[in-house]
Amino acid sequence: MAETFKLRINGRDHEVKAEPNTPLLYILRNDLKLKGTRFGCGEAQCGACNVLLDGNAVPSCDTPLWSVPGHEITTIEAIASSDTGDLHPVQQAFIDEQAIQCGYCIDGIIISAVALLKRERDPTDAQIAAALDRNLCRCGTHVRIFRAIRAAARVMQRQTKP
Ligand code: FES
Ligand code: FES
Repeated sequence: MAETFKLRINGRDHEVKAEPNTPLLYILRNDLKLKGTRFGCGEAQCGACNVLLDGNAVPSCDTPLWSVPGHEITTIEAIASSDTGDLHPVQQAFIDEQAIQCGYCIDGIIISAVALLKRERDPTDAQIAAALDRNLCRCGTHVRIFRAIRAAARVMQRQTKP
């Protein structure tokens, strides 16, 4: 039976009515029209639907609606600066390094990279690989994706220097 849930998404409060087990992905795309979060496998295997949940990257296709009230959800639409509109360093680095081909996987990969760089200022290649373990890219831009994440890390290190 449908119930009403209060959600905090991209810094704004939303109220939605749906079955408790509805995947968060469906709420984002169908109810709230936040289409940057993609549907890929629907089985928590590809990472295309990743969002930040309290700063951690999670697959929204495998995140039931009942589990998210009280948590801060951030989608790709709110990764750029809300003050200046500037792209996040990870987004800018993906453009600079031309790490995007068809682009279908990229929003989810950027979400994973943002979460990684929040907890690791200077990630090793092994840490980048581990963070992207559940992100599939069929276009095979992995080398450029790694380069972009390393470049974004350098930019963010400079930005946070005292
Ligand atoms: S659509 Fe969610 S992980 Fe693939
Ligand atoms: S850029 Fe096409 S699937 Fe990754």
